[in-house]
Amino acid sequence: MKKYTSVDDILNLNELLNLAKKIKANPLSNKYLGKDKTIGLLFFNPSLRTRLSTQKAARNLGMDCMVMNLNTEGWTLEFEDGTVMDGIASEHIKEAAKVISQYCDIIAIRCFPTLRDKEKDEEETVISSFVKYATVPVISLEGATEHPLQALADALTIEEYKKTERPKVVLSWAPHPKALPQSVSNSFVKIMKKMEVDFIITHPEGYELNPEITKGVPIEYNQEKAFKNADFIYAKNWSNYTNYGKIISEDPKWTISKRQMELTNHARFMHCLPVRRNMIVNDDILDSEASIVIPEANNRTYSAQTILTKILERLI
Ligand code: CP
Repeated sequence: MKKYTSVDDILNLNELLNLAKKIKANPLSNKYLGKDKTIGLLFFNPSLRTRLSTQKAARNLGMDCMVMNLNTEGWTLEFEDGTVMDGIASEHIKEAAKVISQYCDIIAIRCFPTLRDKEKDEEETVISSFVKYATVPVISLEGATEHPLQALADALTIEEYKKTERPKVVLSWAPHPKALPQSVSNSFVKIMKKMEVDFIITHPEGYELNPEITKGVPIEYNQEKAFKNADFIYAKNWSNYTNYGKIISEDPKWTISKRQMELTNHARFMHCLPVRRNMIVNDDILDSEASIVIPEANNRTYSAQTILTKILERLI
């Protein structure tokens, strides 16, 4: 594996999931693979899980980690070509990416979308510029349109908790007071399309995700109908894709509660976290046995360790 910036970079999901299970069973079994190698974790946005689980994964492989909040601690970067840099940007990505590549064997980046400029967000300007100018492999820690490490952890969690060969998985939109990216949902859709699951998306009319990504996946506007006999409910908010970055509904009827969960086949509740209690999901669901959000977050370490293992194997 040369890079991991999208679920599209996964060539064989089953192979990755088998490796993830092996790593989880014995996380320190390959603790010298990353000896004398360094990963640089660059954050333009906040994080709890991604930041800590990726460091843990790297350390399990014997790697050194350097972590930098690039938005507050680094020079403001310029990404446009040919710009007269007389504004706030002090350093061009062309130099920055090449310089960081001399210090790190792998570069991992988190950079959320603007949610204002759809075209720019879809170009994944920051991550694709690092891919273009860095001389080492690049991993997304959540970009403008995808969160591929989260998706791999989600797939592993479903594998572990499924009770039937082909479980029914529902991705449900839920309300949120702030405009959120579509990244987690996009990567979840992509990875579910690679899995042996009956997958359906439910959201209020007008909240369609990028149709190129959801192509072939049934969309049900009636949330209760979608939840019927589901084995997994994956809740997530996303802002509007068509009316880009806007909130067009905060309908509390979409908050996941007992009313919907009772229609399912004793479904497990999943969310990538952080989650807004009693907005996305009610306390009584999140605090119940149905919720697997904590083991799901634990799998972030093994998801990251799996990807680092695949990249390091190629580097050595
Ligand atoms: N799920 C996730 O990416 O969590 P953080 O934003 O805390 O890293």
